[in-house]
Amino acid sequence: MSADDIMTPVLTIDGPGGAGKGTVSSLVAERQGWHLLDSGALYRLTAYAAGKHGVALDDEAGLARVAETLDVAFPVEGGTVQTLLEGEDVSRAIRTEQAGERASRVAAVPAVREALLKRQRDFGKPPGLVADGRDMGTVVFPDAGLKIFLTASASERARRRYAQLQQAGVDANLSSLLQEIQARDARDTQRSVAPLKPADDAVTLDTTRLSIPEVVEQLTELLAQRGMASGA
Ligand code: DC
Repeated sequence: MSADDIMTPVLTIDGPGGAGKGTVSSLVAERQGWHLLDSGALYRLTAYAAGKHGVALDDEAGLARVAETLDVAFPVEGGTVQTLLEGEDVSRAIRTEQAGERASRVAAVPAVREALLKRQRDFGKPPGLVADGRDMGTVVFPDAGLKIFLTASASERARRRYAQLQQAGVDANLSSLLQEIQARDARDTQRSVAPLKPADDAVTLDTTRLSIPEVVEQLTELLAQRGMASGA
């Protein structure tokens, strides 16, 4: 057996917020029977923990310490993944627009990214991993067997986010959501460390006109072509 055979297969799914990465990643992970890394949650949790412990978003050393000592767990309750911070269920609290905005600021701090690197790589365990984020294929798992850059137009992403929030019973405004998405895209793509961009060897999938099942089908097909499908 070669070294490649015993390496954990990794599928990275990067792209801007609202392109469908979260849903697609969890469906593909489930279908493959693989682990799932929602790396955005780690940045959201760091920002949330900073707020809880009174660490300001411009205190880079303080933020790095928060990231290094983050006490998190992702237990599965009745089929859904819960997010616990220091034992407190913050699954909903970290999903607000404000939490995303704060996460995007925290994610621009190099020492925070460094502190979260090993924690993210530790998710790469057999039988396989689907890693969802912004720099999964470029920085965290540069040797991944399949790298996807999932994108969609900003207006379509705003529409999807709006529908998601409405469904969750959260008040939202479409035009301010679009503005927030554009501001977040700008910050994520223009930061100096690990900016959002496709890896050189990534396959780009524009989901503007694709349904979630169509995207999952295409990814399953690509995994099969690379000999990475779990045969489900
Ligand atoms: O995917 P998300 O919306 O939960 O991510 C929240 C923020 O975290 C996003 O604005 C960018 C940042 N992020 C990052 O910089 N690198 C990652 N691998 C994942 C998320």
